[in-house]
Amino acid sequence: MTAIGEPLVRRDGARKVTGTATYAYETQAGTPVFCHPVQATVARGRIAAIHTAEAEVLDGVLDVITYRSAERLASTEDAELAVLQDREVAFRGQVIGLVIAETSEAARHGAELVFATYDEREHDTELAADRDDLYKPEKVNPAFPTDTATGDVDAAMASADVTVERTYRTAMYHNNPLEPHATTALWDNDLLTLWDSTQGVHPSRKAIAKVFGLPEERVRVVCPYVGGGFGSKGLPHANVVLAAMAARAHPGRPVKLALTRQQMFSLAGYRTPTIQRMRLGATRDGRLTAIGLDVVEQTSRIKEFAEQTALPSRMMYAAPNRRTTHRLAALDVPVPSWMRAPGECPGMFGPEVAMDELAHELGIDPVELRIRNEPEVDPESGNPFSSRHLVECLREGARRFGWDSRDPRPGVRLEDGWLVGTGVASSVYPSSTRPGSTAVVRFEGGRYVVEIGAADLGTGAWTVLPQIAAEALEVPAEEIDMRLGDTAYPKAAVAGGSAGTGTWGSAVFEAARTFRDKYGRDPADGAEADATTGDNPARKEYAMYAFGAQFAEARVHADTGEIRVPRLLGVFAAGRIVNPRTARSQFLGGMTMGLSMALHEESVWDPRFGQVVNHDLAEYHITVNADVDDIQAHWLDEHDPHVNPLGVKGIGEIGIVGTAAAVANAVFHATGARIRDLPITLDKVLPALP
Ligand code: MOS
Repeated sequence: MTAIGEPLVRRDGARKVTGTATYAYETQAGTPVFCHPVQATVARGRIAAIHTAEAEVLDGVLDVITYRSAERLASTEDAELAVLQDREVAFRGQVIGLVIAETSEAARHGAELVFATYDEREHDTELAADRDDLYKPEKVNPAFPTDTATGDVDAAMASADVTVERTYRTAMYHNNPLEPHATTALWDNDLLTLWDSTQGVHPSRKAIAKVFGLPEERVRVVCPYVGGGFGSKGLPHANVVLAAMAARAHPGRPVKLALTRQQMFSLAGYRTPTIQRMRLGATRDGRLTAIGLDVVEQTSRIKEFAEQTALPSRMMYAAPNRRTTHRLAALDVPVPSWMRAPGECPGMFGPEVAMDELAHELGIDPVELRIRNEPEVDPESGNPFSSRHLVECLREGARRFGWDSRDPRPGVRLEDGWLVGTGVASSVYPSSTRPGSTAVVRFEGGRYVVEIGAADLGTGAWTVLPQIAAEALEVPAEEIDMRLGDTAYPKAAVAGGSAGTGTWGSAVFEAARTFRDKYGRDPADGAEADATTGDNPARKEYAMYAFGAQFAEARVHADTGEIRVPRLLGVFAAGRIVNPRTARSQFLGGMTMGLSMALHEESVWDPRFGQVVNHDLAEYHITVNADVDDIQAHWLDEHDPHVNPLGVKGIGEIGIVGTAAAVANAVFHATGARIRDLPITLDKVLPALP
């Protein structure tokens, strides 16, 4: 019996495509009331007056909450969550009021009628590398050293045969899950129930309980389905606090709040723009002697988020001299946060394009250059890798892609008016398994039941967790009922850091094995076992990462500069693959999002007003079906005995890492135009075309 490794169909798939899966906003819990937030129209200042009378008399409006009337929160430590507590405005779009009404239309209309005047202060929202107020954060997300230095990069650069010294930029990006941030909240009998679109019911409960000063057992968070999150639903944002606040003001009535698409551009986090000063030094035969990366990025004035952009440069290649730094500008902007592969995703753009520039400079094939710099051990910790098959990914990818027939000269292949080129980049993502998630396996009414408070943010937890239990119980996965997405089930970690399957799966596997050992093959009704994910002592002895190689073909129209990517091919070494069907979706989804980052996505910032001007899906372009042609994800059969008992490394994020660099490198090979700032749009390519 092998349940792990089967391409089982998603358990939630039919429910989702037939519209019977109940998302947070759709929860039926009585006669609802509806909320609409009111947002600040200045980027910095203080509310002088706020007029709510017109909204309050509107038919259907129940009340309007502002800083004057809102309940005082027990904890205002997290300034992003401390909504409606004072008159200060820290960024345009910050919540200054909430209209509650019998219909969503009345709530929205009411919100339009609320009018505020401000004592406006001059705002400052423009990131630049030469700002004189850049500061060094104490740590970068979540708790890594801000700067590192090994050897002497300056000296190694001075004595290197060949150097590359360039500045790369990634844009501001907004997580745009299909399902907006949405909540149905009910305050009833001193119990707060939140049906919330979240990546973690327990972490969400903890955060909300703290804000309201409630014991955790008086907050229940329920989330059976999530229409995407990409990190933006990893922890609650202000909208959840607002929904809970409204529920407490209207006990017994379910309160509904969904952010509009436009509101998501100021209230749901985003990926900071980054400026990456990259330095590589190498010998003539392509051995790296120096890697330097100095990152400048932004955070908000009210809450710090420091994207760990330089992290992959610390461990990727075997240069003896390495130096990485992060500096932040605290601006009058919305609060940045997690977006798929924070750190690794932007942090593998500059460095992997720089590797391509170095390969070109040296006349060495870019696949070969990476292979020549493969480290024996983790350059950062000195520990061995628990497993590292980057070289195998590069070779297998090159073979499948047909890399060997590539003419290394850029800008020489012209086909029917299109310049054609190919590019490669490496991918990496840390593999982590978090201690402290508990799973229960029970025999109930003739069926096996698995319970864990995990959240399936669209990645496949509904499907893969029963597979893991089935493996240990030695029964078919169909014989197992899965229960997740509710704080009524045992405590589980967030669906984040690509750690869900490894973390929850380890607990599920152990609980199932314990169950089988304890009760044999013929358990009595009610028989039950549980297990909790333990700390992994091997973490101190091994560096644990998944690796990959991504190949892209770019076609750039020689006259118009139009850019197409007809082929993307990734090969990954990400440990054991529990379900090839859901895994392929994760890799392809990540790669598609990486293509999107390369060519389409960009939150266009207007510093005059301090806001994103393309704040909807008409103008914030995201790669769609028509932009994706032949996209393939493959993986190596990798066995890692150290990462966790399952050998699972995590696959949710690695697909987006390196993709944009592979595309940029392919565009260079096609045209000779080296684009160092994302996204790669035709206006940037045109001047370099023949
Ligand atoms: Mo992911 S950004 O760790 O949810």
